[in-house]
Amino acid sequence: MHISVIGLGKLGLCTAACFAVKGHYVVGVDHNAEHIVNLNAGTCPIIETKLPELLNRSKNNIVFTTDYAKAIHETDITMIIVPTPSNPDGDFSNAAVEAVLHEIGQPLKEKDSFHIVNIVSTVMPGSCETVFLPLLQNLTGKICGKDFGLIYNPEFIALGSVIRDFLNPDMILIGASDTYSADTICKLYESIVENSPYYAIMNLINAEITKLSLNCFVTMKISFANELASLCHSTPGADVDIITKALGADSRIGPKCLKGGLGFGGPCFPRDNRAMQHYATSKGLTLRLSPAASKVNIDIVDRLFNMITKLVPPPGPVAILGLAYKPGTHIVEESPALHITKRLHTAGYVLRLHDPLAVQLASQELADLGVLCGNPYEAAEGVKMLALMTQWPEYASLDWPRIEQVASPDPWLIDCWRIARGISFNKFSYLGLGLGNSNL
Ligand SMILES: NC(=O)c1ccc[n+]([C@@H]2O[C@H](COP(=O)([O-])OP(=O)(O)OC[C@H]3O[C@@H](n4cnc5c(N)ncnc54)[C@H](O)[C@@H]3O)[C@@H](O)[C@H]2O)c1
Repeated sequence: MHISVIGLGKLGLCTAACFAVKGHYVVGVDHNAEHIVNLNAGTCPIIETKLPELLNRSKNNIVFTTDYAKAIHETDITMIIVPTPSNPDGDFSNAAVEAVLHEIGQPLKEKDSFHIVNIVSTVMPGSCETVFLPLLQNLTGKICGKDFGLIYNPEFIALGSVIRDFLNPDMILIGASDTYSADTICKLYESIVENSPYYAIMNLINAEITKLSLNCFVTMKISFANELASLCHSTPGADVDIITKALGADSRIGPKCLKGGLGFGGPCFPRDNRAMQHYATSKGLTLRLSPAASKVNIDIVDRLFNMITKLVPPPGPVAILGLAYKPGTHIVEESPALHITKRLHTAGYVLRLHDPLAVQLASQELADLGVLCGNPYEAAEGVKMLALMTQWPEYASLDWPRIEQVASPDPWLIDCWRIARGISFNKFSYLGLGLGNSNL
């Protein structure tokens, strides 16, 4: 098929590369001209597992341009994957999606054949039918469902594994204005996926609510595990991992996203949760579960901050190992580890920061919070406490005697994910979150 992808960011560029590598012709559009120059020069401007390799393998099937008209004239399906940033009240802004619709309105008007406009960006429920559909009809003078199709087809991927998740989804969500468009998008995914996902085909509003509610449900599950971890922490003999393993074996619950730890972060979960609450308010309803999931998430940061200050007063020093919101990515947006780091910095702690990816690509914001260290051993130099914050696999095989050698005498180790449990330390006093071994 001939597909255009508008918005070549963290999700859009991976989407374009996946379609192209599976043999489809792709026109990739972005309004950032420098981004397009880099892509045309063969540089991969986005950090994501396997993305450079996929772009290289698919280079004969993909063109990059700032020309929206080319995208419409040379393809039959246009995927829009531009930012929908959160407003302070939790609402998402549709401004970038609407800007794209204004750009493609004229070429769509000129086109004789049926064209499918597929919104992938996460949007507030009601956006497709009350904003995008009438806008497209006004701009083109065409009728939705007859002359063009409108699809809402958000993705459920995690940064760091976008390509694997995109090609191996549990479910493909397709909200459609008409059956022809829904069938075409189904066929498109059938031609690229490497597993047998469930195709959830529905109307536009149901798909919009499904996207938000799925993410909210996952945050609720994560917060449940984290609340359980707090309970275990205060209960001598309790171990959250043993309990969640048993809970996860029940098919009504399942094991994924059930590990007690530092809470959820990143560019989607926290904001989707807030958006769900905003949507409910706009309908005159008060949700109880989503706000509770957010509250538990914030409370973990407070609890951990209080634990640290009780054990080691400022200025520390304290080493923070792991800043990304999850392993496999450099993204620190809404990362619980970053929230704690900021709190400690404000409280006057001297911080030594390490993360396998985030520190390498650190912004000035991160550099202002502490000393950026090239490896965990450098981070541990002279510290009175080391806090393991992100579950990076490399932290599971640290040379602990080497760390103990460089840390200050009698240091503390706070292990948010119990990565180092079972290790006999010579110097460290060990505190694993969710293990009932402490009255902290
Ligand atoms: N990143 C994720 O993990 C993820 C997961 C699921 C859903 N989403 C959703 O996907 C959407 C995109 O997210 P992202 O993380 O890829 O964003 P991003 O910021 O990484 O990339 C967005 C891209 O769109 C381009 N762009 C912005 N306005 C444009 C316009 N008017 N015309 C052409 N290009 C334009 C930008 O230059 C940028 O390259 C958002 O709605 C987000 O909520 C993201």
